[in-house]
Amino acid sequence: MPLTIAMDGPVGAGKSTIADAVAQRLNILHLDTGAMYRAIGVGVMDRGGNIYNEEEVCALLEKELRVSVAYENGCQKTLLCGEDVSRRIRTQEAGTAASAVSRYARVRKAMVALQQDIAKKQSILMDGRDIGTVVLPNATVKIYLTASDEVRATRRMNQLREKGDETPFETILEEVRARDYQDMNREVTPLRRADDAILVDSSLLTFDETVQAILDIVEAHHAE
Ligand code: DC
Repeated sequence: MPLTIAMDGPVGAGKSTIADAVAQRLNILHLDTGAMYRAIGVGVMDRGGNIYNEEEVCALLEKELRVSVAYENGCQKTLLCGEDVSRRIRTQEAGTAASAVSRYARVRKAMVALQQDIAKKQSILMDGRDIGTVVLPNATVKIYLTASDEVRATRRMNQLREKGDETPFETILEEVRARDYQDMNREVTPLRRADDAILVDSSLLTFDETVQAILDIVEAHHAE
């Protein structure tokens, strides 16, 4: 039986990096589904489209935005019309665009189908917002990874500082809260914890402790 792990949670909870480490330890693939919505956001902006115009975004998606993923040495590459956009999708602007376009039902439907197709083929750990609720409702293990707003904003600030970005803490905290609001209050499959997801609050845990906590949960489920 393939192992499927669904990991959801709000922005800045460290899902992607934690998921990468957990998947590596378990020797399974990690699919970062946020990257796919980011690629669509970037694709729309590249073409001068308006991310807040649902019709425009959906028309572009159907006509010319082809999102796919490939793996190189176990690492995910996100492709837009065959072009590797893995780096370009990591900006704050791409995150905001992803959050906007991910509200549209047609965008979600297309991405969910792609994600389910990838999961059919192998053991996988997927991280996102709707994995435990929609994409993999029968996942072997579901994790809801979160941390307090302040901790998430502090982590984001530290990442930005490393890149020489001096955005003030208050601004980052506001952005974190605005994104939470948008992701949790959209009409189509908003972010929420699946009833059977196990809550992991990483506010007081180090990176390694969080990875270990998740590995322990996976092991306990496997042993059942
Ligand atoms: O995890 P992330 O920050 O890369 O995700 C970017 C945006 O994409 C996020 O604000 C909401 C959206 N998203 C989603 O709606 N469903 C997912 N499964 C993953 C991301």
